[in-house]
Parts: sequence; structure tokens; C-alpha cells
Amino acid sequence: MADSDALAESTNYFVDIPQPTSRFPIKGGQHLGWGMMNRLATMFNPVSGNTVMLAFDHGYIMGPTSGLERMDLVIPPLAPQVDVLMCTRGAVHTCLPPTVQKPICLRATYDASVMFDDMSNGGGIAADIINAVRMNATCLAVQTFIGSPGEKNSLELLARLVDAGSTYGVPVLGVVAVGKDMVRSERFFLLATRLLAENGANVIKTYYCDGFERITAACPVPIVIAGGKKLPESEALAMAYHAISEGAHGVDMGRNIFQADDPSAMTKAVAKVVHEGCCDQTAYEYYLDTKQS
Ligand code: R5P
Repeated sequence: MADSDALAESTNYFVDIPQPTSRFPIKGGQHLGWGMMNRLATMFNPVSGNTVMLAFDHGYIMGPTSGLERMDLVIPPLAPQVDVLMCTRGAVHTCLPPTVQKPICLRATYDASVMFDDMSNGGGIAADIINAVRMNATCLAVQTFIGSPGEKNSLELLARLVDAGSTYGVPVLGVVAVGKDMVRSERFFLLATRLLAENGANVIKTYYCDGFERITAACPVPIVIAGGKKLPESEALAMAYHAISEGAHGVDMGRNIFQADDPSAMTKAVAKVVHEGCCDQTAYEYYLDTKQS
């Protein structure tokens, strides 16, 4: 039965304490809906404001990439050490235990495989919003090909998935792919990152380059960097350090983690840079001390 006495007796109004109107800490997210803000907040560490995303979606175009031949063995031990898992829905269904307590950034578009000369010619939707929500995805990843033959098609896919994500409160990660004939220049990344943000992406994944601080300054949403091809661990950590120092809000790194001599130690070393503000030399020393010989 309803309790009207509780209302009469209530006294804890704290009339001297105004209700907080705190700003949402994620760049560009202040005016989103609660569900989308909540999903974004699970992706970024509340203290550092940054994220370590583990990318292992490479099989969607490259097949069993070195280091990812057995996702079921490689990924679950790394999952507790990262903030977000970025992968295809096939990987989620087959290789991730549903008990994994990490946000999933689901690759929602497909592209031509590496069997084709230029993968940027045009892809489509690999997982629609209903299926993404059904599998509890926190974010949708959309590949784009600015300045390449697939530009128009990929921007159309981005727009449709941003619309769908807005309807269900699911943010979109816009991925800047670099076409076969494109140069990884400041000019290109300035254009591409800004273009994806203005077309509605909530987070942008791109590559580190010279002039990166101007790219992050001009982009109204957080940027995370891809690692690219495997580098010596010290160089990958230096790249992460420079990116964070110049305004990146994290990494979405694949090969430089799962192809490292010790992927677990490398994940922890990357997190030292991303979350603890360690310089690359300190993180590399930590890597050497931690890695299993
Ligand atoms: C590539 O196929 C995927 O989009 C990867 O997620 C992306 O390239 C990041 O992985 P990596 O750090 O290996 O470049």
C-alpha cells in the first residue's frame, strides 16, 4: 500500500546544496542524450579521460592476421587490461565469452578484402543497429575513405549509422582509412577528421602524424590513434606518448599489441602512457621489466 506518512516525515532536502550541473567530461558530448553519454562514459577512463581500445577486427579484410590466428586464445586474457574491445560481430559471437565486462566497439561496416587492389571502392553495412543493440554493443565503428573512390559511399554509410545510433543512443566511431594513393599528411588528417566529426561521428580513429596537435585542436570530438603496422615496442610507445601529449584521448591499437613479443606487457605499458601520463622511456622500461622472456 502507498505510504503517505513517509512524505509527511521527510526532512532530508539539503536546501543549502544546489543540484550539480556538472559538465560532461568527454569532448563534444555535452549535448548528447543520456544513453549515448552513458555509453561514451564507459569507454573513457573517468580519471584520465582517455581510453585504451584493443583493435582486433583485422580479419574482416585480412583474414587470420599474424597474432590473431586464434582470437579465442589471444583476446580473453587481454580484455581485462583494456577499456574497449573493437571487433567484428563474428569475433564477438565466437571468441568472446559473454561474461566479458568491457564495452564493445562493433565494426558495423564491411569493405572489400585485401584480395582486391583497392579496398576503398565501396562497402556496406555489416551489422545494423538492431543487431548491434541486441549484442549489447556500446559503439559502432564505421570505416571511411576520404579522398578515395569510396568516399561518397562511406559517408553515406556513416550518415545512416549516425542516424540509427542517435535513435538508440549508440555512439559512432568514425575510422579514417588511408587510401592506396593517399599521403598520411597533416593536411589530409585535418580534413578527414573534421569531416567525420561534422558528419556526426562521436569519436574519431586516425593515425598519428606531424602537426597532430593542430588536428586534435580542430576536431570537436575525441581522437584515438591506430597503431598501424608493427613497430619495435619502444617506437610504438613513443608514438602513443606523442599522440597523447598532442591531444589524443587514447589509442585503438591492434598489431602493436597482439604482435608484440609479450602482448600482455605491451598492453599494460600502453596503458601507462594513456592513463598515467608516463613518458615513452618509462613505459618501455616497464615493458622490459614486465615482459616474460
Ligand atoms: C584494420 O583492419 C582495422 O581497422 C584496425 O582496427 C586498425 O587498423 C587498427 O589496428 P592497427 O593498430 O593494427 O593498425
